[in-house]
Amino acid sequence: MKSMKTIIDERLQKEPKLEIFSIEYEGRKFWVKRARKTGSNLLQHFVYMLTKIPLVTPVEHKNAQEALKFESSKIQELYDLSIPVPKVIEVSKEYFIIEDCGPTVQNLLRKNLLDNSTAIFENIIIQLAALHNLGKFHGGSLIKNITYKDEKLYFIDFEESFDKKIDIQELQFRDLFLFLFSLGKAKIEVNYTTLVNQYIDLTHNKDMIDKFHKLASKVSTLMKLVENKSLWNIVGTDTQIVYKLLQDIQKVPSLDKNQ
Ligand SMILES: Nc1ncnc2c1ncn2[C@@H]1O[C@H](COP(=O)(O)OP(=O)(O)O)[C@@H](O)[C@H]1O
Ligand SMILES: [Mg+2]
Repeated sequence: MKSMKTIIDERLQKEPKLEIFSIEYEGRKFWVKRARKTGSNLLQHFVYMLTKIPLVTPVEHKNAQEALKFESSKIQELYDLSIPVPKVIEVSKEYFIIEDCGPTVQNLLRKNLLDNSTAIFENIIIQLAALHNLGKFHGGSLIKNITYKDEKLYFIDFEESFDKKIDIQELQFRDLFLFLFSLGKAKIEVNYTTLVNQYIDLTHNKDMIDKFHKLASKVSTLMKLVENKSLWNIVGTDTQIVYKLLQDIQKVPSLDKNQ
């Protein structure tokens, strides 16, 4: 019987460029994530400085070792807090091993394998709210980083960290925004307002609506441009998704904080 280490070493000898891959060990599936650096390019810093659009918040630079330590310990910490994340099996200098948590929500949607998608999106909001209520953030809460197995959701992919100066509330707003954005990108017809309201019910974080409104007004010039249909096709798809998302959420009235 080969050890996990041998299975991994043999696989990497054959495919040295692999960064994330699954292995079978004792009839069970695991994922191996190798150390690799993180960071954003100058353009992303520049666009964020101008727009403050959460989608382009620059990611902190970490070397491969720092990134591996950051992600594996964050997953471990969240696991201990009963947040649905994979169990960490082993951490070495080169990689860490986690349990398989099923296919991603993005893949299941693509293959039309989710017949209760509305309930699943609501469940994602519940899990995201639970994470945020603990004062934490995900950092990459797109549907490609959320998996579904045995009727249970899991968050994966926690390698992104941000400048310490960025407020946690901003990072939580970014999480909610990224999740909704990823639904739009997957061309899912969804009522964003219901999901945002549900999130607010669970977190009592009414500032989120204001943040959506502020973001909408920041990109209002862009939105006006996009309203011109001839420009609609020229502007990138991502911008169009952000536009639609903000248009929808703008229908939620601003909350008077004194009430
Ligand atoms: N624990 C896991 N369970 C199921 N699938 C996983 C797991 N970890 C990684 N994956 C798969 O590998 C892909 C890449 O892993 P991820 O941690 O998201 O890395 P990246 O930073 O490259 O996006 C995921 O989108 C998913 O398909
Ligand atoms: Mg990912």
